[in-house]
Amino acid sequence: MDHQTIIVLDFGSQYTQLIARRLRELSVYSEIWSPDAPLERIRERGPIGIILSGGPKSVLEPGAPACDPAVFALGKPVLGICYGMQLMTHSLGGTVEPAPHREFGHAHVRVQPEGPAAALFADVPSELRVWASHGDFVTAPPAGFSVTATSANAPVAAMADPSRSLYALLFHPEVVHTERGLDILRNFAFGICAARGDWTIASFVEESTERIRGQVGAGGVVCALSGGVDSTVAALLVHRAVGARLICIFVDNGVLRLDEPAQIRKRFERLQLPVRFVDASRLFLDRLDGIVDPEQKRKIIGATFIEVFEAEAAGLGGVDFLAQGTLYPDVIESVSVVGQSAMIKSHHNVGGLPDRMRMKLVEPLRQLFKDEVRQLGRQLGLDEEFIVRQPFPGPGLAVRILGPVTTPRLDLLRRADAIVAEEVKRDGWYVRLWQSFAVLLPVQSVGVMGDERTYEHTIAVRAVESRDGMTADWARLPHDLLARISSRIVNEVRGVNRVVYDISSKPPSTIEWE
Ligand code: XMP
Repeated sequence: MDHQTIIVLDFGSQYTQLIARRLRELSVYSEIWSPDAPLERIRERGPIGIILSGGPKSVLEPGAPACDPAVFALGKPVLGICYGMQLMTHSLGGTVEPAPHREFGHAHVRVQPEGPAAALFADVPSELRVWASHGDFVTAPPAGFSVTATSANAPVAAMADPSRSLYALLFHPEVVHTERGLDILRNFAFGICAARGDWTIASFVEESTERIRGQVGAGGVVCALSGGVDSTVAALLVHRAVGARLICIFVDNGVLRLDEPAQIRKRFERLQLPVRFVDASRLFLDRLDGIVDPEQKRKIIGATFIEVFEAEAAGLGGVDFLAQGTLYPDVIESVSVVGQSAMIKSHHNVGGLPDRMRMKLVEPLRQLFKDEVRQLGRQLGLDEEFIVRQPFPGPGLAVRILGPVTTPRLDLLRRADAIVAEEVKRDGWYVRLWQSFAVLLPVQSVGVMGDERTYEHTIAVRAVESRDGMTADWARLPHDLLARISSRIVNEVRGVNRVVYDISSKPPSTIEWE
């Protein structure tokens, strides 16, 4: 089960995860490690190669992150990218200086496909448009290195010492804006690290099935299905491993979208997952009665979920394991991830469940990125419509109704939200957007319908593009799409006489309104 692995040491670049994802696309398993990982641990793990990521700091600053310089003498190929190149230079006796022209964005480099970096640049043309983002640059490579690319602003845009298998690039091969970037990573992995390409989703299914069987033995497993992709794929995988010894629980919390509980039920039936449906919508809505504070809404929904889930699981007996759809980005211990997680709101869907229930965790997706989970879902028979679904928050429509959550207000929002979804899908925008939805504002305003003056509710439409939800930009939806959404909502949803479009980005706003 031991895959050949390339370790990415993370110096805090926003692209670090992308390096690992690209390698995995190439069927090479890759993990992201903290740069201060002890050399012994790296040696024990036995990677076939190491990549040093970019990062926001300057190696010239005191306290800048560094790895053990012995990494360069492990005898494993090392590729330094941007900050990683500067660190390699600094550690091995070359010179790094602040660049007179900082380079952010597109740049042109002239590479030398022959010579010391021939293995890295095999089949790559000598002129490349690349993506750069650096304030410092290398003015003199360390002894033993040759310059293997230059650009107008950087005398050393790449360097190599093939006798020690050390390579470095000032630009980012992992970013799609770098021409032939994937080829450069492929050359590093296969041509230099001698990867065989032994990481595939099909092999993952087989291995993780074995692993789950080994962990669970003859025990029983319970899984909380949220209706989203991650928990569904986790359940399918556990089901494949232990069959009827898995019981899934789905709780209807009363704040799902139009027809969603019924759709979820149908999907799980089709997948033949053993699921207990618990309609606890009344309990959730009673507890949300009169609550307007967003954090309190979240807490009530979180606590009520745990209570309902626990009560249901207690009736099962013989259950020692809790399956969860934890993903790799949730467990990476590294600079950029620690930096990012400081920004995240408290989004705990099933937070506290494992501690409270004293169960052992089964987390079959812990090694996977989201795009791999989607691939896995396809392999396990999930329908495409579900796989490309936009994220939906655990506290559901409760955080999209500003003010109290009541049944009439939920009905109104559900209908408006369904119209947004239909229209956005009709135009092919749905899959381009990170999220698109309606929000019910606590505002009434004057309008006129027929000859009648109205005083009714306002719906805000939110549509954003984003890579990971951490930052987002409002989507430039075509005006006629917005016009259709607006007129359908006002005509079809009684109680709404005004529709506005949210043109705020994140930061400083958030994606959800609460
Ligand atoms: P914000 O609103 O913080 O949202 O910009 C970022 C992403 O997280 C989702 N989100 C949540 N997901 N429980 C969740 O499971 C929550 O309480 C929650 N709040 C926000 C949001 O939909 C967006 O994709």
